[in-house]
Amino acid sequence: MILFKSGAELAFHLQKKHASGSRIGFVPTMGALHDGHLSLVRQSRSQCSLTVSSIFINPTQFNDPRDFQKYPVTLEKDIYLLEKAGVGALFLPEVEDLYPGGLQDLEKYDLGRLETLLEGKYRPGHFQGVCQAVRRLLDRVRPDDLFMGQKDYQQCLVVRRLLDLMSSSTVLHTCPILREADGLAMSSRNMRLSESERKKAPLIYQSLVQIKTGWQEGRPAGSVLEQARDLMSSEGLRVDYVEIARAADLAPWHEGDEGMAVALVAASLGEVRLIDNMLL
Ligand code: PAF
Repeated sequence: MILFKSGAELAFHLQKKHASGSRIGFVPTMGALHDGHLSLVRQSRSQCSLTVSSIFINPTQFNDPRDFQKYPVTLEKDIYLLEKAGVGALFLPEVEDLYPGGLQDLEKYDLGRLETLLEGKYRPGHFQGVCQAVRRLLDRVRPDDLFMGQKDYQQCLVVRRLLDLMSSSTVLHTCPILREADGLAMSSRNMRLSESERKKAPLIYQSLVQIKTGWQEGRPAGSVLEQARDLMSSEGLRVDYVEIARAADLAPWHEGDEGMAVALVAASLGEVRLIDNMLL
């Protein structure tokens, strides 16, 4: 695995690889890796001849400065895991490399309603920041395929939109959520949970399962969602939202809508905010 600190050197290396026929898969991350990230690497390796990954804790996507400061950093372990997983090139940019003009006055992307719904409502500016980082990473890597996790469902839709806005030919693959044995979706933030919070965290998954069961039994969405909210709240989870939305664009689901639906949850335990979702 070759490590790159400079975006220009990475781009030069990958242009040569492209020219010699390599199919490049890209797995962008913010580090603190878990098996969910490694499953994206496995997926990329099964489809591409060269897998590139990046570790960059992107300052512009944190609407809460405390969340940024407390974001877990496990760089040495991450490098070891990515090398073992078969990543060919790892990009470790500094902020100055990705944001040479600084962090102010950045281009604004038209994300439509995705920007203000659900996560967008609770984390203003977050998806603009995600687009800033992903755009700058894509400009340097120019991958054929991009692998991202379904756990960040709304982020996947935002990145799909970004690729459209960029008229990019990169293909986005949304890969399944990996879960711990008790159902908790794997997340870098899980390592910040205390022992007692960790015991309660699977209630998010249990609520989603309950919603799916109710949905399949044809129960009204309102009562199914209320029951799920009660289940989480009764154990002290602070629920930002628990919603059923159209899977295609996350617009609120209405009786009579057709197509696939998705249930989405965001809830906090202590200082840790977790998100999860399930296709219905
Ligand atoms: O999902 C993440 O880890 C980040 O949002 C991403 C896509 C690497 C952009 O910073």
